Amino acid sequence: MSAPVITVDGPSASGKGTIARNVARALGFHCLDSGALYRLVALASLHARVPADDEERLGVLACELSARFAGESIFLEDHEVTKELATEACGSRASEVAKLPKVREALLARQRAFRRAPGLVADGRDMGSVVFPDAALKVFLTASAAVRAERRYNQLKQKGIDATLPSLFRELEARDARDAARAVSPLVPAPDAVQLDSSDLTIDEVVSRILGWWRERADGVRA
Ligand code: C5P
Repeated sequence: MSAPVITVDGPSASGKGTIARNVARALGFHCLDSGALYRLVALASLHARVPADDEERLGVLACELSARFAGESIFLEDHEVTKELATEACGSRASEVAKLPKVREALLARQRAFRRAPGLVADGRDMGSVVFPDAALKVFLTASAAVRAERRYNQLKQKGIDATLPSLFRELEARDARDAARAVSPLVPAPDAVQLDSSDLTIDEVVSRILGWWRERADGVRA
């Protein structure tokens, strides 16, 4: 039987990454930050000067991507690119290359390879709808755009990356609109996802709700 998967999907800066990491830690599961893979393709395309609409070359870049995850650090080829990946410029470019079917297809097997015992928590936009449709628990996490812009602002500040709140707000809205409108794997909740608005919840509150749902499911399977 394949290892169980919990998916956490939602718009930019909804807190998915932190929440997925904490849920994975609590359960001793592996973690997949699928957005990082799209950001890596975006960064590789900037380095190689491949235009954001050259689907053929971007598909090949995604296929041949030489990326390594080591704890919180991410490497492209042999260079650490963790900080570069976190910039809004990279996030925006990622949402452009993520529209292309050949890029999505190239990353599919790479994402599924993260599914290993004892289990996986995967975060992104289409984890529950496309990549792991048989996930045991699917969560769709939202938060108001104002709350998300503020969270992203604090996150970037902590990493020493410059940003202003109004420009972040505009970029998040543009990115969400692009992610929701694209033809392939748009940002929509899977029909069987549990939706959770985290605007007024702390990270710990969201994590314990997800762990509670997970326990309920596990009890249901045992009963
Ligand atoms: O989650 P993160 O902000 O790192 O994702 C960057 C971009 O990558 C998103 O705006 C989205 O366009 C794309 N993405 C995606 N599918 C995923 C994860 C990310 O299309 N599963």
